[in-house]
Amino acid sequence: MKKKLAVFASGSGTNFEAIAQACADGRLDAEVALMVCDRPGAAVVARAERFGIAHFVASPKSFGSKAEFEREIVRRMDALGIDLVCLAGYMRIISDVLLDAYCGRIINIHPSLLPAFRGAHAVEQAVAYGVKVYGITIHYVDAELDGGRIIAQRAFEYDGNDPEEVHRIGQKIEHVLYIETIQKLLKNL
Ligand code: GAR
Repeated sequence: MKKKLAVFASGSGTNFEAIAQACADGRLDAEVALMVCDRPGAAVVARAERFGIAHFVASPKSFGSKAEFEREIVRRMDALGIDLVCLAGYMRIISDVLLDAYCGRIINIHPSLLPAFRGAHAVEQAVAYGVKVYGITIHYVDAELDGGRIIAQRAFEYDGNDPEEVHRIGQKIEHVLYIETIQKLLKNL
């Protein structure tokens, strides 16, 4: 049986789309069973609708607490039998509720060569620092922000000062690297 993915996103959702398309094409031996979004109105929601993928879209503010919000997500993921959770531009720190329930099965993609430039605006931080080698990291998620064990990294050289250009180059790499990495992980689930 195909493994089931949940993809979490907060914004545009190009990584979500790359994963959903790879599942549809058979390049990924999995199905995206759920898309989770914490920002109603984010562009990723329309992408999920276009793919006909079930989605849970809600602002954590509409729940009593962050723990309540995450309990609802866990309840939905358990009901679907989710095997792997892929954070793809999910701009919210995951708490113990999700971490305990899906321990070792949550991964994240981050637009820097970790441990450099953790947190938000990693590309802008790296450009401001003046680095010449940029990159993408995929890592397990633990309680430390962008701190879990690294699974894959890919670097690229860029000698300029335009964050938009770095984002463009980086995202092309993300869309390939995330698929390759998920496919490798699926074999051991
Ligand atoms: C991606 O570039 C991802 O690396 C980044 O958000 C973007 C989401 O793009 N994630 C982080 O910065 C996490 N700290 P997308 O919505 O088009 O997939």
